[in-house]
Amino acid sequence: MAAMLIDGKKIAAETRAEIAEAVAAQKAAGVTPGLAVIIVGENPASQVYVRNKHKACGEVGMYSEVIEMPGDTTQETLLAKIAELNDDDKIDGILVQLPLPKHIDEEKVINAIRPDKDVDAFHPVNTGKIMIGNPDFLPCTPAGVMVMLKKTGIDITGKNCVVVGRSNIVGKPMAMLLLGANGTVTVCHSKTKDLASVTREADILVVAIGRADFITGDMVKEGAVVIDVGMNRREDGKLTGDVDFASAFERASYITPVPGGVGPMTITMLLQNTLTASKLHHNL
Ligand code: GUN
Repeated sequence: MAAMLIDGKKIAAETRAEIAEAVAAQKAAGVTPGLAVIIVGENPASQVYVRNKHKACGEVGMYSEVIEMPGDTTQETLLAKIAELNDDDKIDGILVQLPLPKHIDEEKVINAIRPDKDVDAFHPVNTGKIMIGNPDFLPCTPAGVMVMLKKTGIDITGKNCVVVGRSNIVGKPMAMLLLGANGTVTVCHSKTKDLASVTREADILVVAIGRADFITGDMVKEGAVVIDVGMNRREDGKLTGDVDFASAFERASYITPVPGGVGPMTITMLLQNTLTASKLHHNL
């Protein structure tokens, strides 16, 4: 069997059109959702992500500002900037692009963001709310995966869901969202014994480990739904996911491509969270 593609670009465009409509309605009522993105230093990948976030805000009619701080910015200066944005009524969402330079304590920075402006949903208040199933914001990448599954008509209830990777940004919250949708969830990681025997049981396989082409077709159950969160650059310069697309394609029922899969959904969910934050702040 060959798989059907889950077209992230198309789903993202549809979702962004819905968000743009909601933004227009809010603006007509005098409220413009606003996002502030802070980038510290000159990591080229981060610079591309931040530029894309800024551009996406403009496309749906949101206000956004990018705050570029030099790589030698002190933690104190960064925390002061966050405090200023916490009190800025134009700003509904604050995102500090990760990774931060090594001399800055990432956890301290995340904890300084007002939870009701934490559109990444990384603050412990928000991760806690996700854990108990009552979130204000969902972390962007896992939320994007959930929208893709829903819009593709894939029912999660009772399915064996295997998440490969246990990061705070993707793996752990992904597991929580699948559990919240009544999946039977297993989380695998670098110390998992006989990974293939676990992934082969997955009806829904979500891969986020950051290793190019790591999951091969023989590790995929016939008819599984395969979601590839990976974004790696091969030596030849080409982008590739964590799944070996060609071999997995032959076994899966549905599969996300890289690029054009999960990637476009992540920023879409950031826009969604900024809209949600704006509604929260204005009781809309
Ligand atoms: N760096 C890589 N992914 C992300 C993300 O989702 N949010 C932030 N703030 N930084 C990132």
